Amino acid sequence: MAKVNENFLKLPGSYLFSTVGKKVREYENANPEKEVIRLGIGDVTLPLPQAVIKAMHKAVDEMAVQETFRGYAPDLGYEFLRSAIAEHDFKKRGVDIAEDEIFISDGAKSDSANIQEIFAADSKIAVCDPVYPVYVDSNVMSGRTGEYNPNTGRWSNVIYMPCTAENNFAPELPAETPDLIYLCFPNNPTGSALTRQQLQRWVDYANEKKAVIIFDAAYEAYISEPEIPHSIFECADARTCAIELRSFSKNAGFTGTRLAYTVVPKELLLDGTMLNSLWARRHGTKFNGAPYIIQRAGEAVYSEEGQQQVKEMVGYYMENAKIIYNGLKSLGYTVSGGVNSPYIWLKTPQSMTSWEFFDYLLEKANVVGTPGSGFGPSGEGYFRLTAFGSKENTVKAVERIRKLG
Ligand code: MLT
Repeated sequence: MAKVNENFLKLPGSYLFSTVGKKVREYENANPEKEVIRLGIGDVTLPLPQAVIKAMHKAVDEMAVQETFRGYAPDLGYEFLRSAIAEHDFKKRGVDIAEDEIFISDGAKSDSANIQEIFAADSKIAVCDPVYPVYVDSNVMSGRTGEYNPNTGRWSNVIYMPCTAENNFAPELPAETPDLIYLCFPNNPTGSALTRQQLQRWVDYANEKKAVIIFDAAYEAYISEPEIPHSIFECADARTCAIELRSFSKNAGFTGTRLAYTVVPKELLLDGTMLNSLWARRHGTKFNGAPYIIQRAGEAVYSEEGQQQVKEMVGYYMENAKIIYNGLKSLGYTVSGGVNSPYIWLKTPQSMTSWEFFDYLLEKANVVGTPGSGFGPSGEGYFRLTAFGSKENTVKAVERIRKLG
């Protein structure tokens, strides 16, 4: 008799952003005259850069001609894209990453969910709290997290590293030793960042404990301060303890286009086994490559024109971040993030819970954000707004919040 994977049954509720989406749809159906502004999910709103569009058109035309038509992409990605990444994202920052350490994929969300497959079933994971829910949920699905306690909002077999105002939203080294450490910096959801020195402590700790850091750098394009590293491989000895996830979604607007990559250095060994080979094996078996057209689009991000357009795009969103940050601060809100990140993290007013504030904001200001508690128990009493809206809507949203008094 077939049986379901019972681990799935342990997952409480639905995926955070599906719950938010459902609530907003219900509100809109009940109030069709209201104009709702979405600053909830971190989805971009600007169109793709022109350099990217041009490259996509050209690639589409190539697909129409027998001589230039492409079938399956190479498992690990086209050489033209991997070499552009190695050159621009790493070599230019003084970091040596070989092309065969770069694995092209269809998104950092899937990479961050899939990477746990190459580790032992009894690996103990450590996560920041609050945290991007995919890291925990994917480990729940594979049975690593123990039991869920609805009273604490925690899993019995997960090490939580609270990121609170007291520690400036930067996790402390955990008391219990983990096998896998998920770090996302600049952080989703708090918008905080780690300095090179702070990240080096994590690298040294992981090397000492023989743990592996899964470093999600999806928001690196938003770094504005020089002491914040763009890659964990800027830290000494990270090649023996870290895997890095990167995305084209937030820098170049590929949320709907889908393109990302993972770096697994060849020096990263566990019991003599190269994780690079395991990830290559997994990739080869379960993934048939990101589409040629999309990989050409990704390559165009690194052209001179592409780099300029991406810079403008990031600048546009960072201007929104400033509008939200300064606007809310002037209204007396306690806010952080928004400097090296497109996310603004705010304390809910009048001791409202995160979900109470969500409802209040949706009903009274018709503005959607993301409840902090959806990212973990330490997010309770906090709320996340994204800078990825249009400037017009961002200004309007802050104005509506101002009017709430
Ligand atoms: C978020 O809003 O946290 C992100 O958009 C989620 C994601 O990138 O998958």
